[in-house]
Amino acid sequence: MRVFVEKDYDALSDRASRILIEEIKSKKDLVLGLATGSTPIGTYERLIKAHREEGLDFSQVKSINLDEYVGLDGNHPGSYRYFMDNVLFNHINICKSNTHVPDGTAENLEEYCKAYDSLIDKYGIDIQILGIGSNGHIAFIEPGEELSLHTSIARLKESTINDNARFFNSREEVPDKAISLGILSIFKAKKIILLASGKNKASAIAKILNNDTISTKVPASILKLHPDVTIIVDEEAYSETKI
Ligand code: F6R
Repeated sequence: MRVFVEKDYDALSDRASRILIEEIKSKKDLVLGLATGSTPIGTYERLIKAHREEGLDFSQVKSINLDEYVGLDGNHPGSYRYFMDNVLFNHINICKSNTHVPDGTAENLEEYCKAYDSLIDKYGIDIQILGIGSNGHIAFIEPGEELSLHTSIARLKESTINDNARFFNSREEVPDKAISLGILSIFKAKKIILLASGKNKASAIAKILNNDTISTKVPASILKLHPDVTIIVDEEAYSETKI
């Protein structure tokens, strides 16, 4: 596990985007595992800039997103499909048919989750971008006694609903369930990059880095078992980690 501590959010986004740009240049048909949320926005902005100014080519790139709220279709401004279209896909030359975000309105959600895992097996994710919840979650794999291995329907914790309410008109509008990749689905990625920025991530990052253990109470700590993980944090997110 490599850890990069960057001065601030901009520097974190610079480093993450540089890694992704190199990967895309070296493999035209790269399969990207993507996350939503605030953290990767700066990274996505830099990918758009590289596309516009240097012609970074996404025409053969595929993407597979981590999660989506149950009950929201892609036209809902709070949905992750809407987010990805607006924050990244609409601004680069990726084929929309090559972009995959779980369908929160799928009729048979159980079957849908199985099919989503099959999609991951079929394409194989080259590099997975992750954010981290203030409670240590990755994707919507929430802290608890047990962690789902495969893509499944996750029930969101109160803290996650509160954290994500900023993307909705009110807290009550935040769905309490989501389709989310499981630990094994994420572990199939060849490389993983976890991004964390700001004071409210400091405790979660410290719980991962301050000791030599893993815990289902801190789902992101399981990443210590993956052979190729890069953690990029800014100084605030690193502020509770012992040096
Ligand atoms: C989003 C996702 C979540 C977020 C996490 C951090 O697709 O899977 O795990 O990465 O909740 O969100 P932000 O970046 O908004 O703090």
